[in-house]
Amino acid sequence: MSKKLRKQIEKHGDLPNHIAIIMDGNGRWAKSHRFKRIAGHKEGINSVREIVRVCGEIGVKHLTLYTFSSENWTRPESEVSSIMNLLFSTIKKEIENLHKNNVRLSAIGELDDLPNKSYKEIMEGINKTKDNTGLNLILALSYGSRQELLMAVRRIVDRFKEKEINIKDISENMISKELYTSKIPDPDLLIRTGGENRISNFLLWQSAYTEFYMTDIHWPDFREKELLDSIIDYQMRQRRFGKISEQI
Ligand code: FPP
Repeated sequence: MSKKLRKQIEKHGDLPNHIAIIMDGNGRWAKSHRFKRIAGHKEGINSVREIVRVCGEIGVKHLTLYTFSSENWTRPESEVSSIMNLLFSTIKKEIENLHKNNVRLSAIGELDDLPNKSYKEIMEGINKTKDNTGLNLILALSYGSRQELLMAVRRIVDRFKEKEINIKDISENMISKELYTSKIPDPDLLIRTGGENRISNFLLWQSAYTEFYMTDIHWPDFREKELLDSIIDYQMRQRRFGKISEQI
């Protein structure tokens, strides 16, 4: 990273502790270059590598990537299997480098839905890097926020039925603890590439006070410069959490 850019972000204020990204626009990027869709996903991996590196370098603590949603299973089978193969081969290829760079790999979502091969590779990666203290790289895989909330409600109702808890014990904190993200702070900044302005069933509960940054840039073109622009934009905002500015 250039010294100038680093100075620029340091000057503007606090870094987001947790950045979450909806990596959209791979297919359209491929189409605009007259490539097949899978070429967009492959180029998207280069963006993943660069964004992970920069987040680690500047000291972001958690980075959550919406890699595969529970709705993405409805895509044509050939695309689903290409993405799953890409996921497998990328983790296999990159895990040593992630480990060397002190990155801790983790995952949220219905991991059991993944093909065996990808599931195994991810679990091995998570295990290998579990004691690392640098960036926490969280892959959202077969993830859907409504499903996550539904499962949390079911578990809480079960505990009530078993008389382990009373109605009054049910709190926001209890719900947060039942989510995949129980050990991860809420995102400070949520970036969506690819020009759509929607949240697509991603971190609905967790993003109650998150700052959103939507950009028309397609994911394969989202690199260091674009990430730093989004961070500076975030740093210029005042987060009020329901208060008035004089109270901040
Ligand atoms: C969205 O673009 C992208 C996806 C659904 C898949 C993203 C997956 C990767 C880049 C692989 C990531 C791998 C690791 C290891 C993190 P889209 O296909 O919806 O694009 P479109 O909206 O232009 O069609």
